[in-house]
Amino acid sequence: MARLLVCVSDYEKEARKLLPFNALSYYKSGAVDEVTLKENKDAMNRWYIRPRLLRDMSQRSTSTTILGHTVSAPIGVAPTAMQRMASTDGECANARAAARFGTVFTMSTYSTSSIEEVAQHAPSSLRFFQVHIYKDREVTAKQVRRAEAAGFSAVVLTVDAPIPGIRREDVRTKFTLPSHLKLANFLTNNMSSRMKTSAAGFDVFKDVKSLHDPSLNWGDVAWLKRLTKLPIVLKGILTAKDALLGLEAGAAAIWVSNHGARRVDGVPPTIEALPEIVKAVDGRCEVYVDGGFSSGTHIFTALALGAQMVFLGRPLLWGLTCEGEEGAYNILNILQQELDSTMVLSGCATVKDITRDMVIRKEYYSRL
Ligand code: FNR
Repeated sequence: MARLLVCVSDYEKEARKLLPFNALSYYKSGAVDEVTLKENKDAMNRWYIRPRLLRDMSQRSTSTTILGHTVSAPIGVAPTAMQRMASTDGECANARAAARFGTVFTMSTYSTSSIEEVAQHAPSSLRFFQVHIYKDREVTAKQVRRAEAAGFSAVVLTVDAPIPGIRREDVRTKFTLPSHLKLANFLTNNMSSRMKTSAAGFDVFKDVKSLHDPSLNWGDVAWLKRLTKLPIVLKGILTAKDALLGLEAGAAAIWVSNHGARRVDGVPPTIEALPEIVKAVDGRCEVYVDGGFSSGTHIFTALALGAQMVFLGRPLLWGLTCEGEEGAYNILNILQQELDSTMVLSGCATVKDITRDMVIRKEYYSRL
C-alpha cells in the first residue's frame, strides 16, 4: 500500500521523485547561494509558542477575512508561474482546490492557463490577479482589464522583480517552458508579437529581462492605481520604509515577501521582516506574509506577529504534482488542521485570540 502523505514535507519528498528534472529545479531553486532560501525555513524555528491553558475551546473557528472577503482560514495560495508543469490542468486545478477549501487563489501573470480559463473553472472562487508593470504599459493594462472583466477581486503588484533573480539551477539546466505549454496570458491578438511567438519555450532570464522594466518606481504604482478600481496589494515589501511608501501610494495591503528567496540572496527571512512592517503600518492596511511556511505552527507564529494572512507557493506545487487538484486541496486542509490543533492546544478559539505575547524568541529562555 502506498504511504499516506500527511504533511507538506511528505508531499515535497514525493514531488521531488515525480517531477522532471528541469521543472523540479525551477520550482525548488532560490537565488544565488540559496542562503535566504534556507533561512526562510530556519528562522521559523527561532520562535517558540507560549500556550495558554484551560480556556473553553469547544466552540472555535479558523475563519477570517481578507479585503472584506470571508475565508475559511488565514491561509492563501501565492502566485507561482507555470503550474501545468506540475499537473495537466495546473492553475485551474489549484484555483478549484482553493475554492473548495474556501480561500483566495492568487494567479500568476506567468500562468500556463489564461485569466478567463481560471475564472471559468472556479467561477465562484475568490481570485486575485498578480501583475508586473512591463516596459510596454499596455500589456499590463490589458491584463488588468481582463482580470477585472473575469471577476478577479484584487490586483497584486509584484514590486520585487524589476529584473529576474539569478538562480544557478535554472542557468545550469537552461530552463525554458516546455514547448507543449504556453504562457496563456500573453496569447491574445493584442499582445506583443514577441510574446506571441516566444510564449512557448519562454526563457525565464532572457524573456523576463526583455519584458520587465528596471525603471519601475513609486510613480508607476500611482499609474496602476489610476488604471483600476480594484484594491492593490503590494507584494515583495521587506522594510518598514517601503511599507509606509506603499501605504502613501494607496495600497490596500502590504504582502511581506522575498519572492520565495528567488530574487536577492541575503535578504532577511520573511518571518523576521514581518514585525517591523506590522509596527510601521499600525493597522492602517492589511499585512500578509509568505516564504518558507510549511506547518500550522509556522502559520500560528506569523499570525501572532501580526500577519492577517499567510500565503504558500511551493507547497501547493508539491500538492499539484502528487495528486492534482486533490493534492492542492489536501495541502490546504493539512495546514488548516495543523493550525486548528496549534490554536486549540494554545488556548485560541479564533484567529483574533492569537496575540503578540503568544510567541517569543528562543533567546529569551537562555537569558533566564
Ligand atoms: C514564485 N513566485 C512568484 N511571485 C510572483 O509574484 N509572480 C510569479 O509569477 C511567481 N512565480 C513563482 C514561481 C515559483 C516556482 C516559485 C517557487 C515562486 C513567488 C511566490 O509568489 C511566493 O512569494 C513564494 O513562493 C513563497 O515562498 P514559498 O511558499 O514557496 O516558500
